[in-house]
Amino acid sequence: MSETIYDVPAAWAEKAWVTDAQYKEMYAASIKDPDTFWGEHGRRIDWFKPYAKVRNVSYKPGEVSIKWYEDGTTNVAYNCVDRHLATRANQTAIIWEGDDPAESRTITYGQLHAEVCKFANVLKAHGVRKGDRVTIYLPMIPEAAYAMLACARIGAIHSVVFGGFSPDSLSNRIEDADSRVVITADEGLRGGRAVPLKKNVDAADDKVKGGIGAVIVVRRTGGHVTMKPGRDFWYHEEAEKVSGHCPPAEMQAEDPLFILYTSGSTGKPKGVLHSTAGYLVYAAITHQYVFDYHDGDIYWCTADVGWVTGHSYILYGPLANGATTLMFEGIPTYPTISRFWEVIDKHKVNTFYTAPTAIRSLMGAGEEPVKKTSRASLRLLGSVGEPINPEAWEWYHRVVGEGRCPVVDTWWQTETGGILITPLPGATRLKPGSATRPFFGIRPEIVDTEGKVLEGACEGNLVIADSWPGQMRTVYGDHKRFEETYFATYPNKYFTGDGCRRDADGYYWITGRVDDVINVSGHRMGTAEVESALVAHPAVSEAAVVGYPHDIKGQGIYAYVTLMTGESPSEDLRKELVAHVRREIGPIASPDLIQFSPGLPKTRSGKIMRRILRKIAEDEHGALGDTSTLADPAVVDDLVANRQNRR
Ligand code: WTA
Repeated sequence: MSETIYDVPAAWAEKAWVTDAQYKEMYAASIKDPDTFWGEHGRRIDWFKPYAKVRNVSYKPGEVSIKWYEDGTTNVAYNCVDRHLATRANQTAIIWEGDDPAESRTITYGQLHAEVCKFANVLKAHGVRKGDRVTIYLPMIPEAAYAMLACARIGAIHSVVFGGFSPDSLSNRIEDADSRVVITADEGLRGGRAVPLKKNVDAADDKVKGGIGAVIVVRRTGGHVTMKPGRDFWYHEEAEKVSGHCPPAEMQAEDPLFILYTSGSTGKPKGVLHSTAGYLVYAAITHQYVFDYHDGDIYWCTADVGWVTGHSYILYGPLANGATTLMFEGIPTYPTISRFWEVIDKHKVNTFYTAPTAIRSLMGAGEEPVKKTSRASLRLLGSVGEPINPEAWEWYHRVVGEGRCPVVDTWWQTETGGILITPLPGATRLKPGSATRPFFGIRPEIVDTEGKVLEGACEGNLVIADSWPGQMRTVYGDHKRFEETYFATYPNKYFTGDGCRRDADGYYWITGRVDDVINVSGHRMGTAEVESALVAHPAVSEAAVVGYPHDIKGQGIYAYVTLMTGESPSEDLRKELVAHVRREIGPIASPDLIQFSPGLPKTRSGKIMRRILRKIAEDEHGALGDTSTLADPAVVDDLVANRQNRR
């Protein structure tokens, strides 16, 4: 709740697209007449057939339907590549920085065009057609961008799966999307260590019903892999067989562009579906205004393309705007803890967009590793993925940005497609820890648990009262789940799952998830997923997982585990359970703390009282509240006595 305020630097107010007065005017216009606002901004992309209808949206229970620009036709790859060729063929589109600092290269828009066409033809040669789903399980190499754009070019729907996910998680996603073709690499490379991607695909294939049809393998490290004849194909060999000519498919505005799986409070991860035109318009407009993008800027977002931030703000937004976007294969601490800042100096990066967890971990090493670099090229800093605590914000601003670079704390979600609440660097006075104000066209509201809209300064749950073009359209294959998850809690509104405070200046402060989703190092994790991985272990009878405050990760994973009769707690079993969850889901789901407990606090009807488990995990056991409805109140004493997090 810091009250420090940072004014817009004079130089920014002068050069930025939008000043404070302009923000207020444009925002008011966008809310008063969304059709006119989005009608005009829809023309920032090129259309094969122009649209006449701007929006057609219903949030009504039972008939939720979201359509933007529905009678227009276009193509995302055409907009991200082809349309720039006349003026930017020789401009760098992608700067690729390898895990090893000795390895980097640039790809011009002209080269990008050639690569995307070739990749698209390889997919076509393997039978991929409009509407087919293609799973992409690649490291951060340029081929990830080629593959995604190749899908967009021919109208196939990509489903990118983060390279850190296990074979099990990968097979679930392949199966849910019903995708026949998987694109992977022999190995990934992170922090000098190889990640066995192809091997993971082999293991996943064993679990996919009916098996994977074809695996296209990009050679990255040259490490040994087994190629299964008839199923596995080297990309470089396939690419030699196809032509370099591939016209972009004419797509309806509402044709799906991609599926991206994300965790929710219940069940398996959901396939968030985004469609073509609205998504691209929204990614492009937010990239321009939030990062105040101007021609010639060197822009770097450190996310992985396996997450939505990588989709919207490494690839689609920047490329739609004809930008130069940096793609980084490695990690912030390899080979040295100065790597981020060294890359900024090497490529003269102007805009740097990263996650609070990275800032907090680098903060731990002190100022010296930052200060020994120049960072003179930096003008703007961004933050995304989780709430940024004011201390980390101040450090980022003062040490990394030397007090001269505004920090844009951008709040959004996989579901929203692009940034919804954010400062604009030339317009917004900053308060560390606040995502500040809504972007154009966005109508945030704060409601109480009954759904009553709260006014003025208040705290409650964050909903969005109306649609925007980048909004997800459905849960792939399960529209009912889409309606139930996002539109049933507060009818006629999109429910974000986040808690939020609004201060007297109308600034928004995201307080974190109010559902059973936790945010670990900026990665979304459903507690139910970790629980089901734990109970799949033969020694475990029951498990309950909650988040707890973690200095670096934001939230850590705290698991309460009840063992089967005859099993006894031990350090070895604890380690085995951690390893088991890593195998089942992936390293990002590793429990930080496991508490073996003879029982879990349940109501008489058998419902686990998670509120109590959260309090104990937070080491707030003095404030457990009402425990009188518990079936066996003694369980709580044991839980408190053996709690794992003691601050
Ligand atoms: C959280 C990532 C506070 C939030 C783009 C949201 C944030 C979830 C911020 C979505 C922020 C993201 N301040 N919290 N600036 N950005 N979040 O789908 O809880 O991976 O609901 O999308 O991250 O995570 P997701």
